Amino acid sequence: MLETMVGADVETGSVPWDPLGFSKLFDRNFDFNEVMTYPHVQYLREAELKHGRLAMLAFVGILVQSVTHIPGYPSETNWLNALGAAQADKNANLGVVQIAIFTMIVEGKFYPHDGWCGGMDREPGDLGFDPLGFTKKPGFDMKAMQLKELKNGRLAMIAFAAFLAAANAPGSVPGLPASALRRDSAVASSSALCGKTLAVAQPQAQASKTAARYTTQVILPSLAWIRTGLKAAGLKPCELKAVTLAGNDILIGKTEAGKLFGVGNLCPHIGTPMSEGADVIGDVIVCPLHGSSFKVTTGELLDWCVSPPIIGPLTGLLIEKKNLLIFEVREAGFFGGGDIEVLVDTNAKKAYEADYWKGLLDAQGKDDGSFY
Ligand code: FES
Repeated sequence: MLETMVGADVETGSVPWDPLGFSKLFDRNFDFNEVMTYPHVQYLREAELKHGRLAMLAFVGILVQSVTHIPGYPSETNWLNALGAAQADKNANLGVVQIAIFTMIVEGKFYPHDGWCGGMDREPGDLGFDPLGFTKKPGFDMKAMQLKELKNGRLAMIAFAAFLAAANAPGSVPGLPASALRRDSAVASSSALCGKTLAVAQPQAQASKTAARYTTQVILPSLAWIRTGLKAAGLKPCELKAVTLAGNDILIGKTEAGKLFGVGNLCPHIGTPMSEGADVIGDVIVCPLHGSSFKVTTGELLDWCVSPPIIGPLTGLLIEKKNLLIFEVREAGFFGGGDIEVLVDTNAKKAYEADYWKGLLDAQGKDDGSFY
């Protein structure tokens, strides 16, 4: 069967390359609980093509995200964390869900049930998807195109495995540093793929394997309007809704007079989420734990830790007084009535992490010591 499939070419002397004999597994089969134990080569080829296609998509995705990102969506420079960043953002997460549903539908429709026993009624990998009609053009060489797809897919799988290995085990892939293909390192030096990025960005961190995995650079703010998925009309006066946008915990609400506002959801005293029972009185928000109050329009601190008596003020003495963070909000659309949007620093999470690693590495004497 393998002999009749595309795949063998000049690299292997035009004979199929199967040193471990996977293609012969089916012939050594036995029935276990009415299921054949080993798959037919049809099924294996379908799996190979599917993995190859996904790896090609992943390869392109990793390359593209290393140089740019879609404005308004969460910015994550490290491709390993990109999915987590998308899931942390409401709108981007909806995109992830849509992709997952689309994948499930395609998988469900084209799953090669009979392929396990060699009974597929189509060629492995042939989903009949040819919207531009390439296969119907005169002179189209189907076999040559199948071979190209297979080879590119195999290369992409190797490339993806190399990216993964380089990111998780720094130094395991010659010429591919752990920081390669991250957008922050691409900006620091276009020579990322040559293994010189850290030498340009952080000369003193070069010797540190730990430092090689994280950036300790100063990250500048990158402001963008991001949709919350909330409608102004859906919020009543004094009502509050918590959202997390690009790593920022934000509380959207309306004053008693119905004016929209956005403030940090975490109380500057000890980080209690205001969404857990804060009151809005006029244009003032009152923390549910120790009663600190702030003006929602300016973030100005009005009262610091007033309740419960004695204990509240005592806890207030331990922490430096601070104003509440505020965010600019607006309604999308020319005449309002659309989603509420918030102006956020899409680099906030990255800046926080860079600061964290800078402090940690400086404390160990592994960075330039400028943190302290
Ligand atoms: S946590 Fe908000 S006042 Fe203490």
